[in-house]
Parts: sequence; C-alpha cells; structure tokens
Amino acid sequence: MSGVNEIRSTFLDYFRKNGHEVVSSSPLVPRNDPTLMFTNAGMVQFKNVFTGLESRPYSTATTSQKCVRAGGKHNDLDNVGYTARHLTFFEMLGNFSFGDYFKEQAIEFAWNLVNKGFDLPKDRLLVTVYADDEEAATLWKKIAGFSDDKIIRIATSDNFWQMGDTGPCGPCSEIFIDQGEHVWGGPPGSPEEDGDRFLEFWNLVFMQFDQTAPGERTPLPRPSIDTGMGLERMACILQGVHSVFDTDLFRTLIGATEEVVGVKAEGDQAASFRVIADHLRSSAFLIADGVLPSNEGRGYVLRRIMRRAMRHMQLLGAREPLMYRLLPSLVSEMGRAYPELLRAEALISETLKLEEGKFRTTLSRGLSLLSDATDTLTNGDSLDGETAFKLYDTYGFPLDLTQDALRARGIGVDLTGFNDAMQRQKAEARASWSGSGDKATETVWFELKEKFGATEFLGYDTETAEGVIQAIVRDGAVVDSAALGETVQVIVNQTPFYGESGGQMGDTGIIRGDTATLSITDTVKKGEGLFVHQAMLSEGSLKTGDAVALEVDHARRSRLRANHSATHLLHEALREVLGTHVAQKGSLVAPERLRFDVSHPKPMSAEELQRVEEMANAIILQNAPVSTRLMSVDDAIAEGAMALFGEKYGDEVRVVSMGTGIDGAKAGKAYSVELCGGTHVRSTGDIGLVRILGESAVGSGVRRVEAVTAAGARAYLAEQDERVKALAGVLKVQPTELVSRVEALMDERKKLEKELADARRKLAMGGSQGAPAVEARDVGGVRFLGKAVLGVDAKDLKGLVDEAKTGLGSGVVLLIAVAEDGKASAVVGVTEDLTERMSAVDLVRVASGALGGKGGGGRPDMAQAGGPDGSKADEAIEAVAAAIAA
Ligand code: ALA
Repeated sequence: MSGVNEIRSTFLDYFRKNGHEVVSSSPLVPRNDPTLMFTNAGMVQFKNVFTGLESRPYSTATTSQKCVRAGGKHNDLDNVGYTARHLTFFEMLGNFSFGDYFKEQAIEFAWNLVNKGFDLPKDRLLVTVYADDEEAATLWKKIAGFSDDKIIRIATSDNFWQMGDTGPCGPCSEIFIDQGEHVWGGPPGSPEEDGDRFLEFWNLVFMQFDQTAPGERTPLPRPSIDTGMGLERMACILQGVHSVFDTDLFRTLIGATEEVVGVKAEGDQAASFRVIADHLRSSAFLIADGVLPSNEGRGYVLRRIMRRAMRHMQLLGAREPLMYRLLPSLVSEMGRAYPELLRAEALISETLKLEEGKFRTTLSRGLSLLSDATDTLTNGDSLDGETAFKLYDTYGFPLDLTQDALRARGIGVDLTGFNDAMQRQKAEARASWSGSGDKATETVWFELKEKFGATEFLGYDTETAEGVIQAIVRDGAVVDSAALGETVQVIVNQTPFYGESGGQMGDTGIIRGDTATLSITDTVKKGEGLFVHQAMLSEGSLKTGDAVALEVDHARRSRLRANHSATHLLHEALREVLGTHVAQKGSLVAPERLRFDVSHPKPMSAEELQRVEEMANAIILQNAPVSTRLMSVDDAIAEGAMALFGEKYGDEVRVVSMGTGIDGAKAGKAYSVELCGGTHVRSTGDIGLVRILGESAVGSGVRRVEAVTAAGARAYLAEQDERVKALAGVLKVQPTELVSRVEALMDERKKLEKELADARRKLAMGGSQGAPAVEARDVGGVRFLGKAVLGVDAKDLKGLVDEAKTGLGSGVVLLIAVAEDGKASAVVGVTEDLTERMSAVDLVRVASGALGGKGGGGRPDMAQAGGPDGSKADEAIEAVAAAIAA
C-alpha cells in the first residue's frame, strides 16, 4: 500500500527521471490570473508559458499543485463531508510540456506510470477521448493495447478542457478505474456515470488553443501538454478504499480529531469529522498563502470554510476552540512536502484559535435561534430569509453554514428573502452615510466601495499580480475610459500596491493592460478599504473591465520595507536606552530615509544615540525572520505588543515581531513586537545597516530621530568617507591622524591670533610700555592720554585702557578705535584716585556726543560708548580734555 507522501514522490520522481523539471506548487492565490479566486489546477501557474507570453528555462515540468475549489466558479464546498470524493482542498499531480512532446509521448508516459509504476491492472482501466480525436484513440490502442470497448468517445465539454472563460484549452483524455461491482455506477457516457464505480483519476489535456473570448480560439504557438492526477483519488485506488476520507492522511487527521473531541467518528457524526479534516487542510493552506479571514472576497471564503468546520466541532461537543489543536497532525503529515505550512504554523494556529474563539461567542445563541425558528418546519420547507439574514448579520453565520445546518433535515433557505434583507440593510447604511455631511468628492469612494467591496491587498506576499479594472475616476467622477496623457485614479479588484498608511508611503510602479500603460505615482486608501492608484496614462488608452498586470517598483518597495522594519528596531532600542516613557508620536517611512518621533523630554546625547544605533544593528545582524501574526487586540497587548495610543484598531490586528532580545528584560524574548499593517523585510538582515543621522526637537517633549538604512546607509557612509579622505588629502596626513592634526592647527591658530593682537596693540600704543606716560598731557592738573588707535578691535580696547591706566599711575585715558566702516568705539578709563572727582561714564558720553552718537555706559572707572562718525576722533579727544578741565 502506498501512502499519500509516497505516491506524491513516486509521481514527481518518475517525471524527473524522464527529464522534467520539478517545480514547486504555486500559491493558492493566483498571481497571474485576474479572475480566478483560487488556484484550481496544476496548469494555472503555467498559463502564460503555454500561450508564449512567458518563457522558462525548461520545456517540460512536473508539479504537485495545491488546489482549492471553494467559492468562485468551481465550488465544492457544499458537498464536502457528504460524498466520497469531494474536497475543498486537494493536490493535483501533473506533467507539462510547453511545445516539447505532445499526444503520443504524453499517453506513453501516463500509461507506463499507471501500469508499471503504480501497477494498476489493465483490465480494470478504461479511457475516454474527445469524440473526433481519432489520433488519441489510435494511440491508446497502440500504446496500451486497449480494445475499442475500453476507449469511450465523449462529445461533450467533459472531454474538452478549459481553464475558464478564457485561457489555454484543448481536447482531453481521461483515465478511469473500475472500483468493482459492489460500488454503484456506470462507465462514462452511460446513464449511471455519476455513480462512484468508475473513478476518473487522471486527465490528459492536449493543449492546442488559446480561448481569447467566448467563441474565439487561436492556436497556441506550439501544441502542449497539461495533465492532472488527483492525488487523493490515486491514494484511494492504491489503498483499496472507496472514499478519500479512508486514505492514510485523512485517517490520521480524523484520528487526531477523535482524540481532541473525545468522540468516535461513527454513525451520524462521521460526516462532521470529514468536514473538519477537509476544512482544516484548506484553512491552513490558505492562511499559509496569505489569506486571512475577513468579510469580503477570498477572506470571506476562508471565514466560511473555517466557521463551517467550527460548527461541526460544536456538533461533536467542543466547548472551546479546538481546531488549532489539530494543526500539528496536519503539519507533520504535509509539512515536508509544503514547507510553507511549517513557516506559517504559528500564524495558522493563532488565526484558527482567534476565529474559533470569536465565533464561539455567538455560535450557541445563533444555533438556538435557528432551532427555535425551524421548530415547526419539516422536510421540503424553507427557513425565512429574514432569520437567515439575522443569523448572518448578528451571529456571524455565513449563509452556507445555515444551509449546511438545515441540510440533514431537508430544510432549505428562502434566498430571495435573504437577499432582500441584505439590500435593505445596505440602503439604510447608504442613507445614514449621505446624511453625515461628508464632502461630495468622497461620496464616489463610498459608492465604489459599496459596489465592489474592499480591494483585495496581495502586497504582503507579492509585488506583481494581475487584476481587472473595476473603476476609473477622473476629477472626482467615475468615467468609462481614459486616454493617453490623462491623470486618473483607478481601482483594481486586487492589488499588490500598498496604500499609504501608518506612516509608510504608498507604492509606485506600473500597471499594464493590452492597450495601455499607466505609471502609478502613488497609492492611497479611500472609502474604508479601497486601494486607489494615482495613475498617468503614458501609453494607449484604458477602459473599465480591462485585464491588467500590476507591478510595484520593487527597488523602491525594498527600501520602504527596510526603513519600516528599522523604525520598529529603533523604537525598541530607544525604549531600552532612554526608558519606557518613550512612545511613538509619529513616523514617516519614505524610500530614502525614515523619520521617527518619540516622546522624550530632553535632547538625546551623542552617546545615547550611538547605543540605540548599536542595539538596532545587533538585531539586524541576527538576521532573524520577521514574523507576522493575526491576533485580537487584547491578546496582542497581553503579549507586550506596542500599540499606538489613541489609534483605532479593528477586532483583529497584525502583529509584527522581529529579533531576540540580547540582554536586560528582553533577553531571550522577542525583541520588537508591534501592531502594524505595513510591509516588512523577510529577515532583519535585509535591513543591512541602520545609521542614525541625528535627532532634533519637533515640539515640547517630542524628539525626532532620522535615519537611513541598507543602500541608503551605505551611500551616506561612503559620502562621509570621501569627505574624510578629501580632508586628509588637503591636510596631507593619514585619515587616522586627522584629529590630532586639526587640534594642532587650532592651537597654532589661537597662539597666532594672540600674537597678532599683541603686535597690533603695541603698534597702536606706540610700540613700548612706557608710551602712555610719554604721550600723556596735563589737563587742569590731571594727566590725560587721548588717542585714536587704528587696527585694534573694539573688544580689545578695554584691555588697552587698563594697561594705559597702569602706565599713568594717576589720570584719565580715552582710546577711540575706528573700524573699517568708519564707526567709532570709545573707552574711557579713570584711575581709582580720581573717580571721586570725575566719572568715566560722564566722560565717555561726551566722547560719544562728539562722535555723533549718544549714550554709553559702564562704571566710574571704566565706561564704553560708540558713535557713527570715526572721522571726529580728534574732536572727541578735545571735548573730553575740555570736560576734564572744566
Ligand atoms: N488542467 C486539467 C484539469 O484540471 C489537467 O483537469
């Protein structure tokens, strides 16, 4: 018997040995298809390779592809649990040829693997071919030796495979196995074909066309091959069981559920175990691929799947969240083949726990309302739409959960009534909103949000995606199209472009359609959930409904990621160095730098900034993975996540953690834990380096730190280095000797300045110490030295006056310095013995008056004044002499 893991590797190994490249499964959220909700076949990731738009370094490939068929076109959700083979999540094994081999080789590969590799008996096998595909029928005869009755010709669309309304397609040939007479059913094409006896397990598609529009097909550049084998079905066949839920993997999951709920998977309750096992797989894989439960789009499909499983948990007697306890079994079964499960284990676990906890608060009240409302109903009746809507709106019951709950009793739901109630509620919301006085220009976003729902943001996981233009807005009004050169705003059903929020700037990039190229200059969020791309049509023209490829400017986004993650590290490091009073007051995450404002009462010292920088860089060097989880706000805060005070958060928040604390209270614990909706690096090492440029004040008690990271930090440091080298070149020393050289130069300069001042003074005062005494004259019995000095700074005058006073012993000194602009400064000194008789202040005022100024001040022994007219220096000296004599 072959286990699921063995079958998967047998298949991949077989094709690898036959020259095929083993390619990893693509994510469940398709990157390259605008209309597909979830990846539902192996060929989805190769769509553009078949049509020739994309080329790969190999021409044949093999994959084991994760697929989800729930929501959207292929929806198996309702059947899961009640049939032997319906699953919302399954694995499709496939081999692909991109213009390499075609029909004959494909049939040969398939036949050898089925007959020799898996050892399936030829007499239990049969195949179908498309009605007019004689070539395929002949090949099956030749290669497998089938007789005509084993080759069934089917004329319907069952044997012409199409990915969707558009895309690569072609006739196909399916391989069936007869599971034996004990199972009801007939061969394909017979009236009993819907029975389970003849099980289709491998579809070989001979890709020949590209369906470009309904009814329009163009041949592919080269005929190609796409095949899909249901892994779970192959496991049934090889393990000799009839239902996929009896295969090894599902038995393990069902066993784990039995253990957790303490009930056996038997009788009426068996279906619940099957639902839980399947839904656990789809939920876990969707969360690992970036889908989180929400009320719209993919997130709502996930929520429906999760809640459906949780109701079945409740039916089995669960009284607390239990789904997450099944996760370890799933991870140990499938984690090796799909390492994303391992990487996202914590996120999946917390998301399951949170959703189950939240739903449980209304689940039992909702169920009792449901049971009251259906008390009197019997098989064939319908629950009224009003109640179904109340269950949806107030108790969080997705419609299909209500339908599922009533299914066993044969009771339906009045869907018209349900939809009417939904429309009524929307109309009420609209009425109350338009009355709220918001600006008319914003009305357009509200209406678009109501019409299309929130934009699906894919940008946490990818920077390229495809989408469909939902609306074009020009000057605040919705228009059908836009022409070359116009500036418009566009909304796409899904986008990898981050809309400006939380300080992180919006993404820029390119959106391309078949007939248009738009350069996106910014992305903003409007109308609570719409991502609005500010666009300029640089080529062609665009219209609503166009399919487009969106591509974020990767280099710019990488810088934004690094800068955003660095703000988290700086935040924590600032708290460590300055204290826990530090709280974020604002931030700007731009591509070229980051700015981070925090509450802190005083300037940070150079040493503090250095320590902050060192700590942040130590975490960067850990190159630790950055993890993102979804939690309730309360749980996040209980875990120590830093939230912004006064910020409005939803019920659930993203929690971003990075690094491990090195010492102090955080030693060994998660270093930075923050509530954040931004985009971050994968590992701290991607930040490269953080360099603080400086800090400054931005208001009372708020300081701003600015920093650069990664290439920006390197460029900054390189520039600094260049400057140092240039300086060393000018000073003709090694960079290491710069400081001592500059210090020596400064000392020398000080010394020279002093010498220069002395020399000037000497020159001004006549060259010798004795000069004042010599030059002084007698004025009314007082020795008076009055002199205009040249080339002396006003600030040096007092010193000179002091010296002259000492030289005189007793007397009055007046020195007038005339600056280059002709303005004069005058200082008068009176020796102590004379201050009783005259005041320096009075005398300097006399001098000032003569110099065309007025005022002056100081003490009786020394006073200072100025005047605009230096040419009157002699008059001033005489006026003071006269004043002394008077
Ligand atoms: N793409 C084909 C299928 O899904 C193989 O059946």
